[in-house]
Amino acid sequence: MEKYVILGGAKLEGEVEISGAKNSAVALIVATLLVDGVCVIENVPLVSDIYVLVDIINKLGGRAEFVDKGVLKVDSTQLEHCEAPYEMVRKIRASSYLMGALLGRFRQARVAMPGGCDFGVRPIDLHLKGFEALGAKYSVEAGGIVNITADDLHGASIYMDTVSVGATINIMFAAATAKGQTIIENAAKEPHIVDVANFLNSMGANIKGAGTDVIKVKGVDALHGGNYAVIPDQIEAGTFMIAAAATGGDVLIKNIIPKHLDSISAKLLEMGIEIEELDDSLRVRSSGEFKKANVKTMPHPGFPTDLQPQILTLLTAATGTSIVTENVWDNRFKYVEELRRMGANVSVDGRIAVIEGGGRLTGSPVSSTDLRAGAALVIAGLMAEGVTEIYNIKYIDRGYEDFEKKLRSLGAQITRRVDGEKGKSVVIA
Ligand code: UD1
Repeated sequence: MEKYVILGGAKLEGEVEISGAKNSAVALIVATLLVDGVCVIENVPLVSDIYVLVDIINKLGGRAEFVDKGVLKVDSTQLEHCEAPYEMVRKIRASSYLMGALLGRFRQARVAMPGGCDFGVRPIDLHLKGFEALGAKYSVEAGGIVNITADDLHGASIYMDTVSVGATINIMFAAATAKGQTIIENAAKEPHIVDVANFLNSMGANIKGAGTDVIKVKGVDALHGGNYAVIPDQIEAGTFMIAAAATGGDVLIKNIIPKHLDSISAKLLEMGIEIEELDDSLRVRSSGEFKKANVKTMPHPGFPTDLQPQILTLLTAATGTSIVTENVWDNRFKYVEELRRMGANVSVDGRIAVIEGGGRLTGSPVSSTDLRAGAALVIAGLMAEGVTEIYNIKYIDRGYEDFEKKLRSLGAQITRRVDGEKGKSVVIA
């Protein structure tokens, strides 16, 4: 089992290059299944979720391979299966996109519920209702296999009562080659929704309004191949912004779209952290002292839930009492238990966390509970006095490319180790 070992206290200083957006890339890679031709996708982050999807596409009869660093070539012309293998699908949430893409391509899809049967926690009812509105029928079979079929797909008006990134993307996929026009109301507006629409349009789709809450998809007969580059990762950029602030650092965050980071910049400015916006970069400077703030996570353009653990961690060092309200997910404060081990004074009641800031965290062994929580624990380790060991870093590897390498280049004292026999450890990074 691999772990991070961090010696806290170093200020992050220098420049960091942000990778392509993981959440966008996972959708674009699945979108290639709709395309009758060869797609070349650039700026793909090399993270484990991507490798899982590459394997899934190859299993389905497509051909996906990296032809250069971050350049993925996918040829789905020979795709022959509309059934995605459970043992792979369960590894990655974004495999729910296989439903919309395979339905669009074959008018049929058999895909296991991503991560097993967890309707209660991460439901996909909006995805399925959307497919139904387009003319499909579905059933959930034993073992949580979702079987979706359609004689044909036709355009429809779909109002989503909850803003859902995944459902918006899945409905765009299925509607791209449906007959007639589909209107998605109360659509998600995240940067990767726009990226997916731009990708599909560049392959011949007709999608308008992505980035607003009404998306109109006029179905086309077929999509053709082409080249496309993934947008920069808003969440990775935000994580580095918060890490820079947390360590009293001075970091230029490069290769980003500053507009995507407005909600994070605004919150850091409110806390007294300096932000300088440049064309495609941001400079974050902090004295290491900052004010309390209240944060409410919301769908874009609100403060992203995927940066909630990181900002909460930062707030443990702010002067005064802060409140973080999680409005997107039911249960996204599991990691707080780990922060408490490090001395954080945080209480949680349902979707609300109250942070009594001001104390310094102390290094301790902790365990990642998910991807973004793992990144937050790394930030906590950088802030803490002494040594922090972070276990379960496989979660972090799902979404951050070269995380420890990038942090080390900024001066962080972080290494990746493999736990060997007692007393032995091997530094592999
Ligand atoms: C995506 C992101 C994830 C992020 C989330 C919210 C990817 C690969 N993942 O996840 O990192 O945290 O957006 O920004 O892009 N919901 C329903 N029914 C549904 C679908 C969703 O009730 O059918 C609810 C969910 O329980 C949740 C809310 O809608 O409370 C938002 O979920 P959604 O936007 O769908 O998240 P994902 O697309 O899974």
